[in-house]
Amino acid sequence: MSEPRPSSQDVQQHFTARAATYQGAGDETLAAMVEFAALAPEMVALDVATGTGAVAFELAPGVGQQGRVVGVDLTMAMLQRAAERRRASAAHAPERRVQLASADTTRLPFRDASFAVVACRFSVHHFTDAVPGLAEMARVLRPGGRLVIGEFCLPEDPDQAARFNHLERLRNPSHVEAFSESRLRALMADVGCPVRAVRHFTRQMTASSWASTANTSPEDEAEIRRLLRASLDDDQTGLAPVRDGDDIRLTRQDIILWGQRAG
Ligand SMILES: C[S@@+](CC[C@H](N)C(=O)[O-])C[C@H]1O[C@@H](n2cnc3c(N)ncnc32)[C@H](O)[C@@H]1O
Repeated sequence: MSEPRPSSQDVQQHFTARAATYQGAGDETLAAMVEFAALAPEMVALDVATGTGAVAFELAPGVGQQGRVVGVDLTMAMLQRAAERRRASAAHAPERRVQLASADTTRLPFRDASFAVVACRFSVHHFTDAVPGLAEMARVLRPGGRLVIGEFCLPEDPDQAARFNHLERLRNPSHVEAFSESRLRALMADVGCPVRAVRHFTRQMTASSWASTANTSPEDEAEIRRLLRASLDDDQTGLAPVRDGDDIRLTRQDIILWGQRAG
């Protein structure tokens, strides 16, 4: 199933349209990102593809008054929502100290080894090419520092994985490519951050709730339902679809990993 890959302009266009209603999903994945970041006062952390800032704001208390959290993103409209949240926080709240900047992960405007922690949640699958994006994150991470990645996981079976990626692209035209756990581990090792720990989360959804979070067109939603119905008996996508009245229930695996930058 070879399909055209979205460009970074497509990604920006999609998130500009979604910014006003975007809800970063999954409190339990946020908590795991914070735990794996293992921040201490005075550390400097970077949240790549911060969007509306969910991870950056969650990391901020961990670095204390003297530390720093920077959030970067490609899409100005998402960063504006993050800036609104920062403005709305109390005068001395840790959120006030989060710095926000516009940047593409393939060209991060920071020196080598600038950060103790680099985090990135639910965004690698939007990178037009995951490898240079991850390599840049590793470059700006100091030796011994932590690369903390949150993603949803594709099945290991290549046919199921290809169909899952196809459904994701129908649902969200800015989806480029998601990865299986083994592929994510290999990508992180390849950029010099072998994985030290992993946590898994099972997320239950319905086809309609899944589509409603990504501005999916009615035509594409109908096609998603058709493909899921066709997969009810033999799970062709790894999403374990089950009929639920007029809707279809799905189960997705989310994953948080941290890898340590080699010295
Ligand atoms: C699904 S949102 C995730 C936002 C946030 N990390 C969270 O957990 O809520 C994906 C974000 O990735 C950003 N993004 C996609 N490609 C990017 C790139 N190459 N460089 C920087 N940001 C990118 C999008 O603009 C969008 O804000």
